[in-house]
Amino acid sequence: MLQLSPSNARNAISIEEKFSLLSEHWAPRVVAEMNDYQFKIVRLQGDFIWHTHADSDEAFFVVEGELRIDFREGSVRLRQGELYVVAKGVEHKPYAEHEVRLMLIEPRGVLNTGEALGERTARNDVWI
Ligand code: NI
Repeated sequence: MLQLSPSNARNAISIEEKFSLLSEHWAPRVVAEMNDYQFKIVRLQGDFIWHTHADSDEAFFVVEGELRIDFREGSVRLRQGELYVVAKGVEHKPYAEHEVRLMLIEPRGVLNTGEALGERTARNDVWI
């Protein structure tokens, strides 16, 4: 569902409530915007695909669960409450053994699969 950013609304955004409305995996949903940046929630489970965002860094904040982000050399493990920023141009592949609830913070227009378009590419700019 598309909607305008409720920037002048007086109600707080409950991340927990937003997650309760989202059951699909690997389908980011926008919950807020700040200038040109979007806060997105997504449920992840299993293996994603290798991809790169040539023009933007990408911030991962783990709301619940544990996420591993693989790089061509090494990986980083993020537990609940931990934040990590993947620098632009760095190839990465998220992996979650068990379901992870994640918040992504990135500029409007960044695709989840970067340049690696395919069946995992989610429709962009979908609000929840
Ligand atoms: Ni990415």
